[in-house]
Formats: sequence, structure tokens, C-alpha cells
Amino acid sequence: MSKPKTTYFCQNCGAPSAKWIGKCPSCNEWNTYVEEVVHKESKNDRLQLFSGNKNPKQSNKSVLLQDVGLQDFPRIPVPGKELTRVLGGGIVPGSLVLFGGEPGIGKSTLMLQLALRLKNLKILYVSGEESEQQIKMRAERIGVTTENCFILQETNTQNIFQQIVEVEPQLVIIDSIQTLHTSYIDSSPGSVSQVRECAAELLRFAKETNTPVFMIGHITKEGSLAGPKVLEHMVDTVLQFEGDRNHIYRLLRATKNRFGSTNEMGIYEMNGDGLREVTNPSEILITNRDTPTSGVAISATMEGNRPMLIETQALVSSAAYGTPQRSSTGFDLRRLSMLLAVLEKRCGFKLGVKDVFINIAGGIRVEDPGIDLALVCAILSSNEDMPIPQDVCFAGEVGLTGEIRPVNRIEQRISEAEKLGFKKIIVSSYNLKGINVNSYKIKILSAGKMEEVFSLIFG
Ligand code: TYD
Ligand code: MG
Repeated sequence: MSKPKTTYFCQNCGAPSAKWIGKCPSCNEWNTYVEEVVHKESKNDRLQLFSGNKNPKQSNKSVLLQDVGLQDFPRIPVPGKELTRVLGGGIVPGSLVLFGGEPGIGKSTLMLQLALRLKNLKILYVSGEESEQQIKMRAERIGVTTENCFILQETNTQNIFQQIVEVEPQLVIIDSIQTLHTSYIDSSPGSVSQVRECAAELLRFAKETNTPVFMIGHITKEGSLAGPKVLEHMVDTVLQFEGDRNHIYRLLRATKNRFGSTNEMGIYEMNGDGLREVTNPSEILITNRDTPTSGVAISATMEGNRPMLIETQALVSSAAYGTPQRSSTGFDLRRLSMLLAVLEKRCGFKLGVKDVFINIAGGIRVEDPGIDLALVCAILSSNEDMPIPQDVCFAGEVGLTGEIRPVNRIEQRISEAEKLGFKKIIVSSYNLKGINVNSYKIKILSAGKMEEVFSLIFG
């Protein structure tokens, strides 16, 4: 018997190599090469099963861009505003969507919910992870019934395509891509070459039959999607489901979308009966307190195109041990160190001997620099033990010189703060140029430097 042909693949980016090498020349990662057995059979007559296309070599004709009709591809409306927005307005026929997230975050739940709620589409839910009974139990928990959802427990792609030909679904959901294997490749399920090949088969299926396919993908320890980056290049849309498993909120983001914006975000709440959409995030993320508390400041931030008010909390206390601690949840630790240095150097607050803890309420991770101002004010409020009035919120970035820098979409932030009943918002003075202060009921205060902010709040 001849020795099976093997190739080494980088488990991070999928780059092949004939021999083992320590450093991947493509993504520069170390120690990522793993030997995999490849190609048991020739690729010639592969996967004619689903295509019905007898002559795959037939070439396409070029058309004028202006003659390409869009109306041929109406989007499939999906239930729920959050998913609709993140997808860019519904599911595009023939699109391949990768849906990633850490284990236990709720990927299977969201996909099953989608399958159950799309009542007038025939759906095939392929699960390689759970048995039919387990899926049934989950469906009962979600409590929606449908007559159009087929469940298939299978991991072999050839068998899956056979079922697809039989059932003729209008939407296919794969849970998960890492459990699939194709008989054309020998390596084990979950390895780079298997994952890539199975995804390629699904891609061909989606494009040739114009059926949308959702693939669930696991996230590796490092937080990247499904190991091989190749998957991200291949698919049309990459959705990420994130959040703290110990909190009830989950964020859905599109990190790549050929048919929509990647700025959008959807918020869900994990309940006993599945995931519920959160349409008014600001109201939930802010705690209504009877008495003002020190160390709390509200920030008007943007998550994509959506304005949101978020509570930032800080606790500053004298360091019990020699080296002061800095800890941050939901905010970049390095940026926190920078903000503390600015406070120390430019504003004269001696925070170098204090422990500083930061928390963004609700288990949400914020990347918008517009949160800086609120964070700095929360730190100072805790340091001085002086509460910030509850009707004040902030939107501004803090620069290295202690100046308050303007933020994007200031009108939307102001409107959201006004909608939620805040009386004052403090913004950068540079932001005032483009806006008509008198058209808002909320009082817009501006500051150019950190020092001015303190006198605005504490008088
Ligand atoms: P699951 O969808 O299985 O996660 P994934 O597919 O991403 O691994 O969801 C896992 C968690 O969600 C599980 O710990 C239980 C919880 N859950 C609820 O709290 N309520 C529900 O209605 C369901 C179905 C799950
Ligand atoms: Mg799952």
C-alpha cells in the first residue's frame, strides 16, 4: 500500500507547506504547522450531486454593470430587528454566513430560534453536535413551533448534500463547521484542511443553488474564528456572537459583510426561554439609583451606528501593597494606564499610589474612544468621593495633553441622552462647531481641557 500523501498546514491561517516549519511565512505565527493527510480521491467529478450543472467548465459571459438587475435577489426578511440590522437588511439568497462565538454563548440557540421563526421557509438544520432529541428539547424551551424545520444529525458532507437534494431546503444551517468532514479528505474533522474543504463545498452549494447557508464556527483560545483565516476570506458575512457568559447580555456584530455595514450591532438577552432582543439598550445598561454614588459616570457612546448610554464605574483606593493594581473590565487596560498618566501629569492627581478598578456595566466591551471622558470623571469622582449628578452624561475623547477631543456623530449621542431624560451633556468644545445648541432641550456644556470639566461638574 502506498504511503498516504500528507501536507503540513498552518492551523492559524491555513497556509500549506511540504515539510514542517517552525514559523509560518504567511502569518508569522510560530509552531502552528500540523501534518494532515490530503486527497484520497481525485477532485474531478466532485459534488455534482447538488449542482445539477452538467458542464461545470461552462464559462460566464460578461455583462454591463448597468444591466445587472438587483430585483432578482430580494433579501429574505428575518424575524427580529437586531439580526436584520446586523445582516444589512435580511438574508441574501446564495450567501454563506459564518457565525462564530465562544462555546456556550448561545450560537445554537440563536440559529435554532431563527429556524423556528422563519415559518414560511423550508429549513434544514444540520447538527453534528447535538442529537435530534436535544434539539427538540431546546426548541420546546424556546417555545415556538413550526412545520417547516427539518433536523438532520449528520457530519458527512456527502450525506448532507444527499439530504439537501431530498428535502430541497430554502435555508441550510450547519452546527458546526468544525464537526463536518468530507470523504474526499482523510484528515480528522476540525483540522484546517477538513474545515476549509467542507466550507468550500458549502460555498459551491450556496452559489450554485442560490440557497443561503449559515455555518456555526467555534472560536479558538486566542479568540479568532475557527482557526483558519481562510474561512473568513471564503464567506460573504462573518457574524460574531460575544459577551460575558456570566452576564445575560450578548452582542451580535458583523466583522465582515459583503452585503451591509460592519458597524452594526445587535443586543440580546439570554433568558430561560431563549434569546430576547434588547431594543432599548440604554435603559437597561444604566442603573437607576435613588442617591448619587461616587465613582459612576454615564457615557454617551456609539456602537456602530447606534447611540447607547453606558454606565462606567471606577473604584480608586489606596494601594494596600507596594505596586498599585490596575484592573479593567470591558475597557482596554493600556488605554486606562494612559488616561491615568494624563491625569497624573496634566491635572496633578496623584493616582500613582492608588489601586484603580474600572468596570463597564452590563459586561459590555467598549472600543469607542468617546467613553474616555466619562471614565476619567468616574475615576476622579471615586478618588475625591464626590458623586457626579445623575442627570449629567459625557461624550469626549481624552488626548495625551489632557485636551478633550471631539467625537464622531455627536448629534446622535446628544439626542439619545436627551431621549433618556438627561439634563446636561458635557462634550468637547471642538464638537460644538457643527451643531445648533439651541435646538436641544438638553443643556450642552463644553470643555476644551480636563480641568474645565471638573469645574463644570463640581462647580
Ligand atoms: P448554546 O446555544 O448551546 O451555546 P453554543 O451553541 O454557542 O455553544 O447555549 C448555551 C447556553 O445557553 C447554555 O449554557 C444554556 C443557555 N440557555 C439559556 O439560558 N436559555 C435557553 O433558552 C437556552 C436554549 C439556553
Ligand atoms: Mg452549540
